[in-house]
Amino acid sequence: MKSSRLSPEIVILEELLACEPGYVSGTALAKKLGMSRVAVWQYMEKLREQGFAFDAVRARGYKLTGRPAGLSAALIQAYRREHTGDFSLKLLDEVDSTNDEAARQLAAGHDAPFAIIAQRQTKGRGRFGRVWHSEANGNLYASFAFRPRLEPARMQMFTLWMGANVCELIANFCRTAPGLKWPNDLLFDGRKAGGMLTEARMDADQIRDLVFGLGLNINSPANGWPHDLATHAVSLAEHTRQPLDVNRFTAALIGRVLQAYERFVNGSYQKTFADLWNRYDALRGRPVAVLAGPHRITGTAMGIDDEGSFVVRTDKGRSERFRAGEVTLEKTPKG
Ligand code: BTN
Repeated sequence: MKSSRLSPEIVILEELLACEPGYVSGTALAKKLGMSRVAVWQYMEKLREQGFAFDAVRARGYKLTGRPAGLSAALIQAYRREHTGDFSLKLLDEVDSTNDEAARQLAAGHDAPFAIIAQRQTKGRGRFGRVWHSEANGNLYASFAFRPRLEPARMQMFTLWMGANVCELIANFCRTAPGLKWPNDLLFDGRKAGGMLTEARMDADQIRDLVFGLGLNINSPANGWPHDLATHAVSLAEHTRQPLDVNRFTAALIGRVLQAYERFVNGSYQKTFADLWNRYDALRGRPVAVLAGPHRITGTAMGIDDEGSFVVRTDKGRSERFRAGEVTLEKTPKG
């Protein structure tokens, strides 16, 4: 899984993408890669087998004319602007759960950070062990694996910080931002566009393994959901009425997640976290109900506190904080 040196296929794709819609000469590619033109051609054949198409014109060179329809590891890597040597990506056609696969790889001693992305999950999971609908439908199922060596107490903020970063990335990418529903949902107009599932393994008093799982509804069609999700789920494409380039988006997501992780670990995230959260908080000021164990508390959402707990001003006028629980939006009273 290690990819500190870019493979020739990725370098070729990078060059072709950088020159679009123009051509790149075979000689220039050969020089860049330090190999013969025949060897370049052989690597291009490998790319053809992955669904890429090229126009080859004598004296001009090659031009990209087609690319794989869905996720492509080569395209994701080629779109990434910064290649940090110590990150690797594995794209699978099918897996039980990308979170489980990432945990297995960590347990087997794989170098972190890395990401596992799948076209389809057979046992995609959400919070409380709920099923995460994970067909091969143009949506993204991704897990990022780290070895942070942090105190467990700091983890409360991790998913919140990651969620705010993912929202900002989507806002920049789609020019429309989802809202965050504490602690792990991304919503468009009250419908779920994504969810996060962070799982950690402890070593005495430190976090040894950390997996940040993200399910994002990217390109699934409006009529493609099973009956029970039809009115609750939405994809970015459905919301914006435009298909999203899932490979370009995933490349940007990887960059953003790695950067957010660094800022989390070194503590610099604290400078921007509150602003970022407040910008995307979908609940603040709205009537909510919180299910915490056997209790159901209703009131007005007041945002989050310094520790990432959800703050509610109850209907009786008290301020209550929740470290865990499930929030639902209540209907705004008429009047
Ligand atoms: C939730 O809303 O409860 C969280 C959903 C998280 C789903 C993602 S999809 C990728 C990763 N693999 C999983 O099995 N779950 C997460």
